[in-house]
Amino acid sequence: MKNNSLKNWSGIACVIGAAWGDSGKGRMIDDLSSRAQVIARYSGGSNTGHTVKNNLGKFAFHIMPSGIFNQKATCLIGRNVACDLDSLISEMESLKTAGVSYKNLIIDAQSSLTMPWHKLRDGIREESRASKIGTTKRGTGPTYADRTERVGLKVKDLVPRDFKEKLFEEAKIQNKFFNLKLDIPKIYKTYSKYAKVIKPFIGNTIPILKSAQEMGKNILFEGTQGYFLDIDAGTYPFVTSSNTGVIGIWRCFDLHPSQINHIIGITKAYLTRVGAGPFPTKIEGKPRETIIEKGQEIGTTSGRIRDPGWLDLVLLKEAAEANKMTAIAVTKLDIFTGFKKIKVCMGYTNSGKKSGYLSGDASYLEKCKPIYEELPGWDENISKIRDFKNLPKNAKNYIAKIEKYVGVPIKFISIGPKRGEVIYV
Ligand code: GDP
Ligand code: IMO
Ligand code: MG
Repeated sequence: MKNNSLKNWSGIACVIGAAWGDSGKGRMIDDLSSRAQVIARYSGGSNTGHTVKNNLGKFAFHIMPSGIFNQKATCLIGRNVACDLDSLISEMESLKTAGVSYKNLIIDAQSSLTMPWHKLRDGIREESRASKIGTTKRGTGPTYADRTERVGLKVKDLVPRDFKEKLFEEAKIQNKFFNLKLDIPKIYKTYSKYAKVIKPFIGNTIPILKSAQEMGKNILFEGTQGYFLDIDAGTYPFVTSSNTGVIGIWRCFDLHPSQINHIIGITKAYLTRVGAGPFPTKIEGKPRETIIEKGQEIGTTSGRIRDPGWLDLVLLKEAAEANKMTAIAVTKLDIFTGFKKIKVCMGYTNSGKKSGYLSGDASYLEKCKPIYEELPGWDENISKIRDFKNLPKNAKNYIAKIEKYVGVPIKFISIGPKRGEVIYV
């Protein structure tokens, strides 16, 4: 490892959601971005919702890399990102309004375009499911499905003269096979406008990344969702449609995980899940209401309530081991101030027997019952603390409990949503 402290990190780093998303990846990327020379998105699409609060305002990013504020860094949208231009262009507008330049952005020519028919299909498919996944209806799943079927439009298709022909051809097929009533000329008009806006930002990200790596530049990868929403390792079928763990970086940028110096798994001090699927530590009753209210647990993308749960160390350890995490980040520790007791899941039982996580199997996890340990909480306001030793004793004990069980050091603790509201351990 090149550097042990995340405050002064160097080399190659990635931030990966350790559970079911919304763990503060956007804010952490913003916090770490000042040292990065390249910042890259490698997974997901506009199903992602990353919040950044800094001196320039509050931003919700679906496609734009959250490190875009570092104007000296090159920001990449990799080939495996499902590129939703409705989102990207509106994010460009919001940056422009805030006076932030995004001329440092490059979108890979190979990335698949999320088109209006993908969004329609996401909704139709979801309505027709007996057991709903609760997708974000952003069209991300159908974009990846078309890519796997080797159909669909790529970012590079926007530019050549035959774009109109390609779009009409593809949209007609979509109308026919999915019984849609797409207004194709209208879609073409919108996308030909988008093409003009996007054209200057289209490039090939792989050689850019490779040469940055060869030059020893600091590279920061921004994960999306969380490890248990991964298409393979997650709680299938209640998952998203891309590889959200460290392996996604390899597939998107041809950069092997063994080259990454800091593999940072990020979790809130508790868990949340939005959408359906097993959630052994889901909280009911008063603490649920308190967490939703204090933590403002309402989805950035969907506006839905995020169900809260106690931290699940079985899952965190699984994610840490599978991704070979070198550090853990814990966000929103401030939300626990005032809690008399904090529960933490130390194991499961399944059909009366001690059990662990069975990768990729939602029905197994559904039957797992958590074994909790209850820890004492604290009353002190911790939002101004910047030094670990000044945290209340019980907050330090909580962090120590996580660290000991998972066996990975906690190096970043956030105690407020804004840039800098962080304790670097
Ligand atoms: P992401 O998808 O992982 O980037 O996370 P989201 O942005 O969807 O959700 C995290 C939410 O928690 C956002 O509203 C953040 O502003 C907020 N947040 C992040 N870190 C902290 C923290 O330490 N304390 C508090 N109170 N809020 C935080
Ligand atoms: P960020 O990057 C939380 C969830 C959806 C649904 C499932 C499938 O902000 O952490 P999809 O639209 O991907 O087909 O939905 O995955 N989901 C997320 N939950 N955070 C996200 O992203 C999510 N992206 C998808 O709620 O359960
Ligand atoms: Mg989010």
